[in-house]
Amino acid sequence: MRLLIHNDYESVCQWTADYIIQRMAAYAPSATKPFVLGLPTGSTPLGVYRRLIAAHKAGNVSFADVTTFNMDEYLGLKPDHPQSYRRFMNDNFFNSIDIKMERTHVPDGMTSNPEKECAEYEKAIKAAGGIELFMGGIGGNGHIAFNEPGSALNSRTRAMTLTTETRIANSRFFEGDPQKVPSRALTVGIGTVLDAREVLIIVSGRQKARALQAAVEGGLSHWCPLSCLQMHEKAIIVCDEEAAEELKYGTVRYFKDIESAR
Ligand code: PGA
Repeated sequence: MRLLIHNDYESVCQWTADYIIQRMAAYAPSATKPFVLGLPTGSTPLGVYRRLIAAHKAGNVSFADVTTFNMDEYLGLKPDHPQSYRRFMNDNFFNSIDIKMERTHVPDGMTSNPEKECAEYEKAIKAAGGIELFMGGIGGNGHIAFNEPGSALNSRTRAMTLTTETRIANSRFFEGDPQKVPSRALTVGIGTVLDAREVLIIVSGRQKARALQAAVEGGLSHWCPLSCLQMHEKAIIVCDEEAAEELKYGTVRYFKDIESAR
């Protein structure tokens, strides 16, 4: 695992956007060999999306041969609901780049058969050749996508019940009322994330510091889903100083040493 500690959120986003652009360029996607990118929603990735859009508008990157799979979607929200993750992705990213909409995938939150929808999502990822790079964020409780603490470390795409903590955290988008946050969501599983050839997690702010500490310095545990990265051969966490606050001085030095030697 690589851990990159940047001064602030802006620098986390800049590094991440540059890295995605660089990985895509090295892959040289084409119509027959698209680059398959896993994507999150949330406040944290917004700065990355803004930079990717700017790079696209400057002519530095094209998404014409990119296929995307989002991590999750609320159950019961229509795609055009202002808080649905499909709407979030269209408004904050897809509508501003040259991606082909049919190449973008978000689980269908209006499905009448969640089990079937999830099985088909897994099949679609496989049919696309698997995910090359999965970008994700984390919750303050260490969740990755909507895999809340206690999720099986080999879980696949499925319907999950959200914890009260997550509904409170997300209530800022639902008039501050946790009751208005859907109680269930479809989410890729931890196993689905681990299948990606590379996983890149962005973490910002003090409210994520404990989860980051547990994932980096603690053992592998379903109680901190982010710790699953310990099982991945190519995982990168990019965080800011605030998110790194609970790490030991020696841990920070260790990861900084590794990066400066690269
Ligand atoms: P946030 O959400 O980026 O809005 O903090 C991340 C998450 O809950 O996974």
